[in-house]
Amino acid sequence: MNQGFHKYIPFQQIDLPDRQWPSRTLERAPIWCSVDLRDGNQALVTPMNLQEKLDFFKLLVQVGFKEIEVGFPSASETEYEILRELIDGGHIPDDVTIQVLVQAREHLIRRTFEAVRGAKNVIVHFYNSTSALQRKVVFKKDRQGIIDIAVAGARLIRQLIDEDDSGTRFRLEYSPESFSGTEPDFAVDICQAVVEAVGATPEDPIILNLPNTVEMCTPNTYADQVEYFIRHLPARESAIISIHPHNDRGTGVAGAELAMLAGAERVEGTLFGNGERTGNLDLVTVALNLYTQGVDPKLDFSHIDAVREVYERCTRMKVPERTPYAGKLAFTAFSGSHQDAINKGHEYMRQSGSPYWEIPYLPIDPADVGREYEPIIRINSQSGKGGAAFVMDHNFGYHLPKGMHPEFGAVVQAACDRTGRELEADEVKALFDEEFLDIAAPYALSRAKFYEEAVAGASANVTHFSGVLCAGDDFIQLESRGNGPIDAFFGALHLAGIDGYTFLSYSEHAISQGADSKAVAYIELRAPGGRRFWGVGTEHNINFASVKGILSAINRAIRAGMGK
Ligand code: KIV
Ligand code: ZN
Repeated sequence: MNQGFHKYIPFQQIDLPDRQWPSRTLERAPIWCSVDLRDGNQALVTPMNLQEKLDFFKLLVQVGFKEIEVGFPSASETEYEILRELIDGGHIPDDVTIQVLVQAREHLIRRTFEAVRGAKNVIVHFYNSTSALQRKVVFKKDRQGIIDIAVAGARLIRQLIDEDDSGTRFRLEYSPESFSGTEPDFAVDICQAVVEAVGATPEDPIILNLPNTVEMCTPNTYADQVEYFIRHLPARESAIISIHPHNDRGTGVAGAELAMLAGAERVEGTLFGNGERTGNLDLVTVALNLYTQGVDPKLDFSHIDAVREVYERCTRMKVPERTPYAGKLAFTAFSGSHQDAINKGHEYMRQSGSPYWEIPYLPIDPADVGREYEPIIRINSQSGKGGAAFVMDHNFGYHLPKGMHPEFGAVVQAACDRTGRELEADEVKALFDEEFLDIAAPYALSRAKFYEEAVAGASANVTHFSGVLCAGDDFIQLESRGNGPIDAFFGALHLAGIDGYTFLSYSEHAISQGADSKAVAYIELRAPGGRRFWGVGTEHNINFASVKGILSAINRAIRAGMGK
C-alpha cells in the first residue's frame, strides 16, 4: 500500500460557525471577466499569435464580455505589441474595458502604463503573492514585508493615474495572489491596506480579486474564505469582490458557485477552463448553469459550436467530449432507459404544450446552445427499443406505434450485436426499410384498385377490391368486397387461400419525403400460430399503404415460419 499520503498537510478549516452562504441561492449573473488572453494564453504550449489573439478578443466581445484581461504587457515585447494593436487598431468597443496584469513592482508598473496609453477604459490589475508558503519559501518576508510590497505598488499606481492626461478611464484591481493559501485575517489586512493606499471609495471602488490560485480545499472551504473576507473587510463598501478560481481538484465550477453564494460579485475565468495546470474556471459552464436555473447569464452561448471552433483553432486545445454543454457527447444518450425517458419527455412536451423544459436527462434544451440538429439519441448495443423509435421519428418522421417498438428494437439490437459498433441513423433507417418496407416475398401486389359501390337499401357504401397478387412465379387474381378497404382486402386474401390472420390494430400518418407527401400505415396482425407481427406500408394513397402494410406483416410472419 502506498503510504505517500502521509506527507500532505490537510487544509485548515475556516472558523466561521455562522456562515450564511449555504442557505442562499444564485439569482443574478455576476460581472464576468475573461482572462483567456492572459491566464489562459500564458498556459498554452504555443501562445496565441497576434491574429489569433485578435480573433479570440472579437469572440469574447461577441459573447458579451465587458471586461477582458488582454495580457501582461510588461512581461514581453510580444504582449506589449499585441496590446498596442488592440488599442491603435481600434478593436476595442467603447463599452468594453480591457484589463492588464502587472506585478506590484515599479518598473513593470511604469511599462504597463505606457502600454495602455490611449485606451478608453482600463483596469490595472496588480498583484503580489501573500500565502504563508510563498512568504516562507519564495519571498522570505514576514506579513508586514508583503504588505509593504502591495502598498508601494498601490501608491505608485495611484500617482500614475493622477498624472495621466490621456483621458483614459482607469479602474483598479488588486489580487492577493495565492489567496487560497493565505490566512484569512492576513488577506483582509493586506487588502484593507491597499484600499487605503489607492484611496478607493464607494463611488470609485477597487476590485479585490480573491484567487483560488491553487485549489487546495473543498469548495465549501473556499466559500468560507470568501464569506470571511467579505464580512471582515472594513472597507467593504469601497470594494467589488471578485473571484478567480483554478481547477486543481476538478472543483473549479463548484468552488465558484459556492463563492458566489458567499457574496462574490465578479467572476474571472476562461472559456472551457483553459489555464495554468488543470485550468482556470470554465465560464461557459458557470454561465449555462445559471441559465438552466432560469437566470439570464448575460453571456451569449447560443452558438456554442462556433465558440468552440474559435477556441480550438486559437488555443490548439480540444474541448473534451464530455464537457458540460459544449462537449460533442454532452447531449447524447446511448442507454436504453435514458432514450426511452427522453422520447417520452419529447412526447409530453408536444402534447402538453408546457412552456417549461421538462425532458429527463437533458438539463438544457440543445437548441438553446445551437445544437438542435445533432443526434441526441445514438444507437449502440446499450440502446433500447425507445432509441430506435426515436431515431425513426426525429430523423425520418415515422411515428412508430408503441406496440411496435419492441419488435423493431430487437431488429436494431441484433444488428448492433452483429456489427459490434454504433449504428448511424441512416443504418437504422436501412434496417427499417429492409425489415418492413422492402419485404416483397412471398407476396407482393402487382396491381390493385379500390372503388366504392352503393348498395340498394344500405346506409353505407361497400368497398370493392380488385388486384393481382404475385406469389413467386404465380399471379393470383384477387377480387372481393367488404365494409372498408382493409376488410375487402382481407376477404380477397381469404378467397386466395391466404388465411388464418387476425387483424389487431392499425395506425397511419402522413409523411413528407422531400417535396412529396405519402401515407404510412402500420398494421398489426396475429399469425396462425398466435404470434403477433407488425407490417408497414407507404404509398401516396392511404388504402394502398394499408394493403402493403398487411402484406408486409404476412410476409414477415411467413419468413419467421409462422404463416402461409
Ligand atoms: O491564479 C492567480 O492567482 C492569478 C493571479 C495573477 C490573479 O492568475
Ligand atoms: Zn490564475
